[in-house]
Amino acid sequence: MAFNPLEEKGMPMEKQFKSWVEVNTKPYNKDTVHPYTRTRGILMNGIEVEAALFLHDFARHTSDLELKKTLALSRRVEQQQQKAVNWMIPGNESTLEVTLGYEQVAVDLTAFLAQTEPDGYVKQALDFALLEDFDHLYRYANYMKMTEGKDPSSVTKQYTEITVGRPTALEHRHPLDEIRNFVDCKKADPVTNLHIYTIVAAEQQTMNYYMNVGNRFTDMLGRGLYQEIGQMEEQHVSHYESLMDPNLTWFEMLLWHEYNECWLYYSLMQEEPLAEARAVWEQNLSMEIEHLRVACELMRKYEKKDPLSLLPESMPQIFKFQSNIDYIREILGTQMELTGYGTDYIPVDELPKDNRYVMFQSQVNATGSPSEAVIDTLIQKSGNDYRNEISGPHPWAPYRRTEAVPAVKRRLEASA
Ligand SMILES: [Fe+2]
Ligand SMILES: [Fe+2]
Ligand SMILES: [Fe+2]
Ligand SMILES: [Fe+2]
Repeated sequence: MAFNPLEEKGMPMEKQFKSWVEVNTKPYNKDTVHPYTRTRGILMNGIEVEAALFLHDFARHTSDLELKKTLALSRRVEQQQQKAVNWMIPGNESTLEVTLGYEQVAVDLTAFLAQTEPDGYVKQALDFALLEDFDHLYRYANYMKMTEGKDPSSVTKQYTEITVGRPTALEHRHPLDEIRNFVDCKKADPVTNLHIYTIVAAEQQTMNYYMNVGNRFTDMLGRGLYQEIGQMEEQHVSHYESLMDPNLTWFEMLLWHEYNECWLYYSLMQEEPLAEARAVWEQNLSMEIEHLRVACELMRKYEKKDPLSLLPESMPQIFKFQSNIDYIREILGTQMELTGYGTDYIPVDELPKDNRYVMFQSQVNATGSPSEAVIDTLIQKSGNDYRNEISGPHPWAPYRRTEAVPAVKRRLEASA
């Protein structure tokens, strides 16, 4: 029978607090870990950070003391889960290696959600930003090659290609072109809500991560690269969060947060090869089942509504980290030239003259962009950029190595 978190018995709340030793998870071995174990950890860290921050926000918007106490209880557990998950990352994994993991999450999470998304507008939003995070992976990989000489595919392995996406320098759009229409949660397929909640939390965590670690680099180019891509993650959070239904009540949002956590832990434990990680996913699922039960109770008590009428009757199709090479190539081959335009997307060359995109680009890229400088520097140093094109040459002709690299060399010579 299909798994239904609403019919399962979770871990009682009073048993959810763990000792320091139990929470201090044994880190994985960075040389042998499966890349998708790393990405599962990064994703669920983002989900737990969102869970804790959402519960803080909720508590700041109620004067009901009893409610504040109930929220504090599960919030402390969300914090504990966040630490158990994020402490799986070993101390010897560098900030840059973790960063490649973050962008691999963005690529393969987004590509899977897009392929399973029933709402055309939401799918387009996912495909659109997919090409941008895909490019971030390429820029950071080249920075790694340039500064450490290390092979970036030692992190991502042969699951995710590394090559040019929609070039980061061209992704910077005016803030007014990052806001999308929202989805009516009650009319949408439940899986659409789960997708939106998941991608917002993941992009938000990436934004927060770059906000904090981008200044850990000693050279100005690396510091600039993290700033530039960090601002792109701000754009991505704005883009995705505007899809969320703003008409949900706090109790409805709580319900969706907890249901989403159940859906994700249940999904991730299906394919986890690492025993320690699998134990974390399983244990957290049993806690989330109880959080969901509490959220249902709160809704009945405070809003006199039936939570079951809002949630799916059975668990939707599970989420999977898997290789999405062919799908991403299809989007690379068809959507490279799109840009945001109001709440929609159009090819850059169809923008009206004097559009704010052009104005914004000329401001932020006035002195060039670190994401371009990284590639230029590596080409100057080694004669080539770094790519891991597993299924052949780039699907978009102008970005094939045979065209793109000589073009950079000509430009550098002309400006020398
Ligand atoms: Fe949680
Ligand atoms: Fe990104
Ligand atoms: Fe992103
Ligand atoms: Fe939870």
